[in-house]
Parts: sequence; structure tokens; C-alpha cells
Amino acid sequence: MIATHHLVKTYGAFTAVDDVSLEVAPGEIHGFLGPNGAGKTTTIKIIAGLLKPTSGRVVVNGHDLATEAEAAKASLGFIPDRPFIYEKLTAGEFLRFHAGLYGLDGDGVTQRIREMLELFELSRWEGELVESFSHGMKQRLVMSAAFLHRPRAVVVDEPMIGLDPRGARLIKDVFRRMSQHGVAILMSTHTLEVAEEMCDRISIILKGRIIARGTVDELRVMAGGADEQLTPVFLKLTGGSALQEIDEIV
Ligand SMILES: Nc1ncnc2c1ncn2[C@@H]1O[C@H](COP(=O)(O)OP(=O)(O)OP(=O)(O)O)[C@@H](O)[C@H]1O
Ligand SMILES: [Mg+2]
Repeated sequence: MIATHHLVKTYGAFTAVDDVSLEVAPGEIHGFLGPNGAGKTTTIKIIAGLLKPTSGRVVVNGHDLATEAEAAKASLGFIPDRPFIYEKLTAGEFLRFHAGLYGLDGDGVTQRIREMLELFELSRWEGELVESFSHGMKQRLVMSAAFLHRPRAVVVDEPMIGLDPRGARLIKDVFRRMSQHGVAILMSTHTLEVAEEMCDRISIILKGRIIARGTVDELRVMAGGADEQLTPVFLKLTGGSALQEIDEIV
């Protein structure tokens, strides 16, 4: 599970994350939606232990990030929006390096790396340098690394960007399967169809604050109608339609 309690992150006078409490249960895929700059990545980086909150708590699989950081991080998989991969490594070397970071060693590791390469359709590329990989291949490699240590909770920042339909399908299938095995997943996305298709519940963040939370159907009701598509619901909840401004400049 993943839980945040009253998270706040300020930069000087600016509050990027403003009292965010979230709970993602085992087996739940929780969508994290909101306009650009709303505070999604900041929240996700705090959960991953990369940023310190100004105040508030994070608990991952029962481990408080402030007091049991190692245990919390060891049970979490994190997939950043802009991953850094050292390009002079091969895919296999990158995964072995990652396994080392998580303290995985012994015979099982080679087997586990093979499984991940197979799952993410990268087996043929095990010995190739990352610098020769396409965007989608790098994305799949980063996911392989994030799942190596069998995390019980996963935070992922915009996983579908730039993936072709087959790659996107694969990632969706992997996430769904993981959740069926009890993994808690918090996923930010701008692709409302992805959120609608995959998420059990969605939290919408606006200017650092959670303004709505629920199933897709519940959000529709909150937006005041039973619109077929999630996009108008999202725009209504976040107050964002630029048509008037566009009219003024065209
Ligand atoms: N290091 C920083 N110093 C000052 N402000 C920051 C810093 N990092 C983030 N911010 C601000 O915090 C706000 C939230 O940013 P964040 O990256 O969390 O948004 P986001 O919801 O992930 O947006 P996007 O959808 O564009 O990825 C933004 O206004 C951003 O400018
Ligand atoms: Mg972001």
C-alpha cells in the first residue's frame, strides 16, 4: 500500500503540494490526474524518497519513509517521468547494476533479469548499448528495472508517453496483472482514456490540492453530469477550457 498524510511541499513562498492525503490499497490502480504544474511529479518524488516534504508523512507497505526509509524504498518500485539511464551500459548491465542497488545477488538474479527482459520484449537487446535504444525500448527497460525486486507498491509518472500501441498495451497488461497480484499502483497520467480504462479510483490535483477523488462514475457525478467521455468531466473539475482565449488571439 501507499499512503500520504497531509503532505506539503513549499518552495519559498510557493506551495507546490498542499495538504495531499492519498491512500492506495493493495491491488488498487490509483490514477493521479491534474493539469501541468499541479504537483503530481512533486508528490510522486516525495513518495519515492527523492524529495523531502516540508511536512506530512509517507507510508509505503507499512514503513514510514521518515523512520524506515530503507524498508520503504526496498518495497517500492519507482518509474520516473524522465528516467536517467547511463547510455554506455548494455540493457543487461543496466539491470544488473539496478539489481545491485536493491541488494539482489546470487543465481536468482540472472534468472530474474531474463524474466524481466522477456516480459518487456527486450531479450534480443540484452547485449546492446542503451544509446542505440528507441524511446519505447528505454521506457520498457526502465520498467524492467523497477519491477526486478518484486515491489509491493509502484509509483509511476506518466508511463504511456511516446509508446506505440503495442508498447502501451504491454505496459497496461503488466500493470493490470501486478494489481491482480496485490501490488498497489499510483500512476500519474494525462491520457484520460488510460485513466478510465485502468484506474479503480482517481484523484484529481489542482494547484497542489486534491479537489476530487473517486471512481470515474463518481467523478462524472461530481462534475454534474453523466458525460460519456472523461475529458469534459476533467475540464469541468479543473476549470480548464481555453476556447475563449484562443478566440481572442486568432
Ligand atoms: N525545485 C523547484 N523549485 C521551485 N518550484 C518548483 C520546483 N519543482 C517544482 N516546482 C513547481 O511546483 C509545481 C508543481 O510541479 P510538478 O512538476 O509537481 O507538476 P506536475 O503536476 O507533475 O506537472 P506536469 O503535468 O507538467 O508534469 C510547478 O509549479 C513547478 O514549477
Ligand atoms: Mg509531472
